[in-house]
Amino acid sequence: MMGATIKSIGIYRPELEVTNAFFEAYLETSDEWIRERTGIERRYFSSEDEYTSDLCVKAVEALKKNHHTSVDDVDFVIVATSTPDQILPNVASRVQARLGISNAGCIDLSAACGGFVYGLILAKGLIAAQTHRRILVIGAETLSKAIDLSDRNSCILFGDGAGAVIVEASSDNHVFEPLTDTDGSLGKELFISHLSQTVDGEPILGDGKMHQNGRAVFRWAVSTLVKNIPVLLEKNKMTLEQVDYLIPHSANIRILEAVCKNLDFPMERCMESVRSYGNTSAASIPIAWYNGLASGKIKQNDQLLLIGFGGGLTCAGICLENKIVLGEAD
Ligand code: ACO
Repeated sequence: MMGATIKSIGIYRPELEVTNAFFEAYLETSDEWIRERTGIERRYFSSEDEYTSDLCVKAVEALKKNHHTSVDDVDFVIVATSTPDQILPNVASRVQARLGISNAGCIDLSAACGGFVYGLILAKGLIAAQTHRRILVIGAETLSKAIDLSDRNSCILFGDGAGAVIVEASSDNHVFEPLTDTDGSLGKELFISHLSQTVDGEPILGDGKMHQNGRAVFRWAVSTLVKNIPVLLEKNKMTLEQVDYLIPHSANIRILEAVCKNLDFPMERCMESVRSYGNTSAASIPIAWYNGLASGKIKQNDQLLLIGFGGGLTCAGICLENKIVLGEAD
């Protein structure tokens, strides 16, 4: 079977930095509450005319610069997002056109904060099937456009950003066994709906804004990760001690702390992006991965366990051997 490897990465965040003081100014909340309950110090919001495809293109341009590489021979583009510019055309097609990639298949993937890992799993499968050889997988969100700024339970959590990697065919395989798991009966606990006014027959607000039951999502996230990380390790015939870095979706620092405590895994080996970027959904894992590389913590050949979770409620994990090295251009 054809193997897969990942050697390149790029990220992008919008210019506008939004600190907790922004919310303090008009909501009944405080910098202290937000930091203590979520870990978040700041996030970045896209400008009014900046959309998810714009963030994707900038992340890919960063990838090209970081690795002195081209994307001309990419043969498939997967964009994981819950905040596409529009439903149709998909974001991936806009990215293909803007980057001038010819002869590429293009799809958007809707799996909320699990989307980036689902994208890696699909890319690995296409490469194993030998139908494609070089696949751009991008996680990108402009959640600032989908939050209700008057809802203090959710608006303080989210930020915008993008992260891109190329999954490519390789004689040596470095992208290992995946895990996927979903409990769709909990869909009503976290949703953005433009069209339907119900989930599972229950009335919801179809206003295009993010709505969530924070406590229910929190509980589900911790128990799902604590259950699934050992299952994923078992599938890979690995122990937790062999994992150099855990990169879970960065939703709330307390979720990551609770998971690490439950699994007796050191928090110092858990990469996060939530403190400085907020919850960037599909972009949070590649941003945390990039930051781990840029800070010199994650090194070549390190064993990584990536696990995303979110709206669905759905979860996806994968084990990798890190082959990305950031060069002098970074
Ligand atoms: N500032 C001040 N007080 C607040 C705020 C705020 N921003 N938000 C809520 N509170 C209040 C509540 O009203 C409540 O007050 P009450 O006790 O008088 O009713 C109190 O704080 C405690 O509320 P909880 O909901 O119990 O607070 P909790 O510690 O659970 O934190 C939070 C809330 C941050 C939303 C947390 O539950 C969480 O992070 N959940 C996970 C959310 C998540 O990750 N969602 C995205 C998943 S990824 C995806 O798919 C997009």
